[in-house]
Amino acid sequence: MATGMRKGLTSYGDAGFSLFLRKAFIKAMGYSDDALDRPIVGITDTFSDYNPCHGNVPKLIEAVKRGVMLAGGLPMSFPTVSIHESFSNPTSMFLRNLMAMDTEEMIRAQPMDSVVLIGGCDKTVPAQLMAAASADVPAIMLVTGPMLVGHYKGEILGACTDCRRLWGQHRAGTFSESEIEDVSGRLAPTTGTCMVMGTASTMACVTEALGMSLPGSGSIPATHADRLRAAETTGKRAVELARNGPRPREIMTRAAFRNALVTLQALGGSTNGLVHLTAVAGRCGITIDLDEVDQLGRDVPVLADLKPSGAHYLEHFHWAGGTMRMLREVRELLALDAMTIAGQTLGAAIEAAPEIPGQTIIRSRATALSPTGAMAVLRGNLAPRGAVIKQSAASAELMQHTGRAVVFDSVEDMTVRVDDDNLDVTRDDVLVLRNAGPKGAPGMPEAGYLPIPRKLARQGVKDMVRISDARMSGTAFGTIVLHITPEAAIGGPLSLVQSGDRIALDVPARKIELQVDEATLAARRKAWRPPAGLDGRGRGYAGLFLRSVLQADQGCDFDFLVDPPRAAAE
Ligand code: FES
Repeated sequence: MATGMRKGLTSYGDAGFSLFLRKAFIKAMGYSDDALDRPIVGITDTFSDYNPCHGNVPKLIEAVKRGVMLAGGLPMSFPTVSIHESFSNPTSMFLRNLMAMDTEEMIRAQPMDSVVLIGGCDKTVPAQLMAAASADVPAIMLVTGPMLVGHYKGEILGACTDCRRLWGQHRAGTFSESEIEDVSGRLAPTTGTCMVMGTASTMACVTEALGMSLPGSGSIPATHADRLRAAETTGKRAVELARNGPRPREIMTRAAFRNALVTLQALGGSTNGLVHLTAVAGRCGITIDLDEVDQLGRDVPVLADLKPSGAHYLEHFHWAGGTMRMLREVRELLALDAMTIAGQTLGAAIEAAPEIPGQTIIRSRATALSPTGAMAVLRGNLAPRGAVIKQSAASAELMQHTGRAVVFDSVEDMTVRVDDDNLDVTRDDVLVLRNAGPKGAPGMPEAGYLPIPRKLARQGVKDMVRISDARMSGTAFGTIVLHITPEAAIGGPLSLVQSGDRIALDVPARKIELQVDEATLAARRKAWRPPAGLDGRGRGYAGLFLRSVLQADQGCDFDFLVDPPRAAAE
């Protein structure tokens, strides 16, 4: 098989001429024949002035290149789409599949024997793993790493659990305009990703457990010298991968995904992690079984004392031993013989993790933050294909609750009405948001963290049962049911709820039920019409998205990108 510069020649109908032309052009950059004969390691450049979570990417690329050259390879960086949460309209999720397609096609189109994928902000790591699975060129992930914590009036703060907490106080009138302005300069004090156990941290740690990044590398702070050393080592390892593999699908096996799901639960990880892992698995022909996810939620304790489920931040987790140290506590639930990209098994990586005397961030089973895992899967007549709740970040007293529905028909409707003092709502009601799913919004915004109506917030209400077909930031806290599938915009049962209906949530029984008789629901179903403008007849990427996006239980990937199922025995 062709390697290096000879790989994937441009089609001119004459392979010799194609190589001659390629070399002629690349020599304009000053490369020697010796350099051009080396194994080529591609490096994704996801730096962007719009993406502070990737602010350290130029330095990481420099360090990866150093590692590649120390190992005798030729590093070649190339740009791809870069996505930041706060700079993506309508949502970053809308763009994840675009980044996955871009990255996959650039890996495939350009000559490279292996690739270092540098990602960090929420949707970038899943997009790159999806791309790696589909391109199936030897690949290794390097995350940008978490920010350091912020400080404000003697309190430690972090993006973005504290962003939401303090904004909630501001809405309730207990945190002033000038205080909220001041704190905006303290919540994200360095480059790097959000430093709570949000989606970025979840994906960074889960990627280690999946075997696609160097063990111990996921939680190193973005600004620490160790991150640059990890980048150098990643570059060196990428040269070995270029020579001998393995390929991503040899790492991302069924057992590896199960290891990742155990990790997701033990971390108190983001519910988004489940959607993303489902999408990555789908690219490998592997189906994530929600019933298995729920069972792991019963068997795996939450061991990481990190916000929003706990009290601390990623840098504390890292210095307590990180993901591999945490997994030692649940090793009996893991496939320890799963191979990692480092060339050692997961079991060996876990054994090698440091033991830090006196640390309290990574708990044992006996001192677990919660005896059950981060999330539970709910079903019922409201969610025939499932819904999730992050039980580790919910209020214990609301886990079994029946209340009157207060329905918002869209994100816009919610924005207009939720703070209206005339809104008919009490603390015992169930707030319902619909048409905020993969197609409905579109792009499944992180709107599932419905704000507490202002008049209730002023009364001191901090949590209510909230349900939607939307997603929620991994940094958020509350009794919040998400990803209701199928979504309302395609006629899921959520579309039939009316304000005043009774909704029963029973997390221990894994139930979410609309207490309306079947005859009434049938009449409503008959009268239902889909929202306008979602038929996918529009132009460009938006049209492609609406025509092709799958539901949350299928990872919200595009239908034409999912791989045919692998045999279960694989
Ligand atoms: Fe990028 Fe939070 S905004 S990780």
